Amino acid sequence: MHFIPEKLDDYVVAHSENEPELLQQLTRETYQKILQPRMLSGHYQGRVLSMISKLVNPKNILEIGTYTGYSALCLAEGMQDSGEFHTMDVNEELFDFQRKYFDKSEYGHQIFQHLGNALDIIPELDKTFDLIFIDADKENYPNYFNLIIDKLNVGGIILSDNVLWSGKVLEPLKPDDASTKALLEYNSLLKEDSRIETVLLPIRDGLTISRKL
Ligand SMILES: C[S@@+](CC[C@H](N)C(=O)[O-])C[C@H]1O[C@@H](n2cnc3c(N)ncnc32)[C@H](O)[C@@H]1O
Repeated sequence: MHFIPEKLDDYVVAHSENEPELLQQLTRETYQKILQPRMLSGHYQGRVLSMISKLVNPKNILEIGTYTGYSALCLAEGMQDSGEFHTMDVNEELFDFQRKYFDKSEYGHQIFQHLGNALDIIPELDKTFDLIFIDADKENYPNYFNLIIDKLNVGGIILSDNVLWSGKVLEPLKPDDASTKALLEYNSLLKEDSRIETVLLPIRDGLTISRKL
């Protein structure tokens, strides 16, 4: 969904950084071989994630929802050389695809994949993080926030994707729409929680930046 007119959107992309060659390859192979390729962050949002990560220059990064590894490789661009990138996904069929691209990048040795339900994996991680990207099942966004907030260092950043959910956050809520319900709750939670400060950016499907105080 385009929240701004398509021509303006094209102009925005044309005047932003080019997509690195490895990510172009990853995108092509995702579209050829993997179901639901539209899930990957893509060129423009990827460059936004890369830029934010370079500004934060995090040591450790946590990602919830790896898919084929596109956003992981973008966020890794800003990670410190001594840092670790922990990313998780419940879909085991994606594991080898992710590893192939991680190992083609310069960050492969710093990226640790976790296979399984993020709700089970996060409590087991004995680490703290400077940057956390939430991009998995929308129903669990409030649960993910509650699980990660104590693992986020002061000054650290949470990036939350799809918070506008194609504009459904403005429509009357359908009783069986658990994703929109959870996102409405989540967006309010981020705004109200006194441990963080938050801005919601109308980038792509909505990307919120929250900073721990
Ligand atoms: C939107 S995709 C992630 C896209 C990726 N971050 C990117 O930008 O390229 C969401 C991913 O979350 C995973 N996922 C959904 N529910 C999950 C859960 N409970 N635990 C871990 N991963 C989950 C899905 O398998 C899917 O690959």
